[in-house]
Formats: sequence, C-alpha cells, structure tokens
Amino acid sequence: MSSFFCLCIHFKGLIMLLFCPSQLRAHLGTTPNIKHIVVGRCYNYISLVNPSSRYDCEEIWRLFEEAVVHQASCNVKVEDYHQMFIAMPHTWPCDRFLFWSKTRALMHSYAATDRHIWTLEDTLVGFMFNDLIWCRHKERPGFDFSSCPEWSSCQNHPVYSLWRQASQTFAELACGNITVLLNGSIANAFDKKSMFGSVELDSLNPQSVDYVNIKVVANLEGPYIESCSQGSVLDLIQILRSRGFSWTCTDNDQTLMILQCIQDPKESACQTCANSLSHRQCLTSN
Ligand SMILES: *[C@@H]1O[C@H](CO)[C@@H](O)[C@H](O)[C@H]1NC(C)=O
Ligand SMILES: *[C@@H]1O[C@H](CO)[C@@H](O)[C@H](O)[C@H]1NC(C)=O
Repeated sequence: MSSFFCLCIHFKGLIMLLFCPSQLRAHLGTTPNIKHIVVGRCYNYISLVNPSSRYDCEEIWRLFEEAVVHQASCNVKVEDYHQMFIAMPHTWPCDRFLFWSKTRALMHSYAATDRHIWTLEDTLVGFMFNDLIWCRHKERPGFDFSSCPEWSSCQNHPVYSLWRQASQTFAELACGNITVLLNGSIANAFDKKSMFGSVELDSLNPQSVDYVNIKVVANLEGPYIESCSQGSVLDLIQILRSRGFSWTCTDNDQTLMILQCIQDPKESACQTCANSLSHRQCLTSN
C-alpha cells in the first residue's frame, strides 16, 4: 500500500516531498495558513501564471472548505470535490501533456526546458494544492492543524481524493501526442497502483489522443531494470494496444539524458560529451 501513497504524491509532483509515507505522518496537521496559501496561489495563477484565465478564487476556496469540513476527516470522497472542480474548468492545447510516475525530479527539469509542456502542476488545482496537507478536525467543523490521519489509514483521505479527481480531470483533457515519463531504474516502472496506472491511464481517451509516447529513463549510474522491452513497461504497452492507442517507446531519450547530465556532469555516462571535441558529434553519437 505504501507505494500507492507515494505515488499520489508524485502526481502532485506537487505534493511529493511531503507525501511519501514516511513523511505523511499522523502528527502532520493541516498546513498552517492554508487559506492564505491556497487563495494567494490562486491569485498568483490568474494574475501572473496564466493571466488569460478567469477564476473566482474566493469561491473556489469556499467550495474546497465546504467539501472538507462537512465530512469526517477520513471520508472526503472524490465526489465531494465536484463543485469545486466545476468552478475551475480548464482547456489545454493538445500535444503537450506530460504524465509521469516516479520521475518527479526529472519531470521538473524537463518541464522547465519547455514551458509549453503541461503537467498536472500547471493546472490551477495542481498549482494551488501542491505540497499542502489538510483534514477536518475530528470533533468540530474546521481544519485540524495539529494532526491529520495517515493516508493509508483512511478510506477516503481528503488529500488523496482531491489529487485523484485532479489527475482524472487532467487525463480526460489530454489530446494529441502525450508523453509518459517512467523510471527505468526501478522494478514496476509502470505501477498499476500509481496515480498514472490506476487513474490517469483509464481516463485517457483513445479518440482524442494520437500517440502515447513512452520514455523510459534510467538513472545515469543505473541500475537498468526496466526498458521498452523489459518488465512492467510491456504491461503498459499491452494495455495501450488493447485500448486502441497508437504508441511509441524510447529508452534513451537524448534530451532527458542531457538534462540528467546537467544535474550530474561528473557521471561517467556524461564524460563522453564533456571530453568530446565537438558537442554535436558527442550528442549524435549517443
Ligand atoms: C528513479 O527512482 C529512484 C528511486 O525512487 C530515484 O532515486 C531516481 O531519481 C529515479 N530516477 C529517475 C530518472 O527519475
Ligand atoms: C506525434 O508522435 C508521433 C510518434 O512519435 C510522431 O511521428 C509525430 O510527428 C508526433 N506529432 C506531433 C504533432 O508532435
């Protein structure tokens, strides 16, 4: 179960650091100042990040609070957030949707190289709730700032339910060519219990998605556990086939490798490039 939770996090890309199971401990309560953070991020989003968007930030907060404080803290269902999601419709240009699982750091540098790539964190809901925790107080209406239940101990954790709905909405909008970034240095790179494997994949529409371009990326120093021809990635390909998607799969995407080398230039896999007389030559020889 614990990998499941870590995942969720990931989709949050957003949430991730705080949410790995060891860190989402019972003693962590609702993020202090959550209202100011959420409403402030919302205004940041509509004023600076995506100025063409029109959202009512106060109303979104009200609907969020209503969803959370009217249920028991372990019983906030996906449906409880529906009104809030209705208040934040999104449309996205096609061809730029990026999904990922257990590749959060790499996803961030990848998304940073191309501002037209859309991840869940670029949606209003992803932007607003990234890294936050919340739950209702056990005895009275209102948030509990001293502790929240662990993700794994709840049937319907308020944080999980929100990310689940956010991931589903994001995947339903996906169109054109989409990219899926998977981690080739771990077993189960494609994990059916992850947010990608359990929610997003099911929500992709073969009618609107032209190609699912899978990129399996291992750490520069290895280990090399899964690839396009090995391990759980084959299960993903099988599912895509059976649902009628066109797909491609790449093991050694050059851009991603260069991004990894920027983080870690001393790694031996990057030395060929560093020592090469011609960078062009080095890049094409990889
Ligand atoms: C793959 O997962 C491991 C373990 O979580 C992580 O340390 C590593 O950075 C990930 N690799 C990539 C390329 O994202
Ligand atoms: C979509 O992906 C396919 C397969 O990788 C590629 O041939 C095609 O050029 C891509 N289309 C766009 C618009 O990027």
